[in-house]
Amino acid sequence: MISFRPLRAEDAEGVARVERESFPTPWSREDFWREASNDFACYIVALEDEEIVGFGGCWISFEEAQVTNIALASLHRGRGLGKPLMTRLMCAAAERGAERMTLEVRPSNAPAIRLYEGLGFAAIGVRRKYYQDNGEDAILMWHTKLKEFVDERCSAETDARD
Ligand SMILES: CC(C)(COP(=O)(O)OP(=O)(O)OC[C@H]1O[C@@H](n2cnc3c(N)ncnc32)[C@H](O)[C@@H]1OP(=O)(O)O)[C@@H](O)C(=O)NCCC(=O)NCCS
Repeated sequence: MISFRPLRAEDAEGVARVERESFPTPWSREDFWREASNDFACYIVALEDEEIVGFGGCWISFEEAQVTNIALASLHRGRGLGKPLMTRLMCAAAERGAERMTLEVRPSNAPAIRLYEGLGFAAIGVRRKYYQDNGEDAILMWHTKLKEFVDERCSAETDARD
């Protein structure tokens, strides 16, 4: 059974494990430990029983939420789990006062782009050579109607899964 809850300091190792499986320049356990007590950060973890299988996070500044990272353990990808995870992150950010959310994504990351578009994000530009590991561009995406999204989706999504 999959469940979701906010990040706790003791989750740092589990989240860092998922991060290492997911990104070429991963954040460390200490980075996530710090994020758990960062007042500007908002993170949601996905658990299967007690094991962390995914997480998503953002930094909130006034009305804007900047997604830092979202990832699932490799065995849990491609099963539609990204959508409820991202939805919960959007809901949590909106509860903290965010009205807009932004993120960067690699043009080669088709599942992620599809996920974000399906949740109402739109591509508004490109950051040239953004990713340091391979010089790939980033697509810059925004969701500008977080409150409307929350009104429509959050209570239903919270009840729909698990
Ligand atoms: C990105 C990620 C969170 C998506 O979560 P997921 O649960 O695996 O995604 P899903 O299986 O729901 O797929 C998302 C969408 O992409 C589609 N998709 C999957 N593979 C695809 C492909 N190769 N090409 C095009 N679309 C694809 C799915 O059909 C789905 O669309 P739908 O909801 O309209 O059917 C997950 O794959 C992951 O952790 N990736 C590694 C880390 C990462 O890239 N994070 C994002 C950084 S910006």
